[in-house]
Amino acid sequence: MELKITVDRSKCSGHARCAMKGPDVYELDDEGFCISDGKIVTDESLRTQVIHGMKACPERAISVIEA
Ligand code: F3S
Repeated sequence: MELKITVDRSKCSGHARCAMKGPDVYELDDEGFCISDGKIVTDESLRTQVIHGMKACPERAISVIEA
């Protein structure tokens, strides 16, 4: 099953917690903002990182849907 990540760039404040909880999923730009908007994850082994990274964002900038 695929998971699609959406990042609301207007909410992202660069807390980087997504990347701490999901280092193999979430990427940050040079200023620490998440650039994984639109990313599709197919690897089942990364599923936990996707969800934990989403939940770790204090701004609720990340949403995940099953694609
Ligand atoms: Fe941004 Fe939230 Fe990650 S503020 S850098 S999406 S923890």
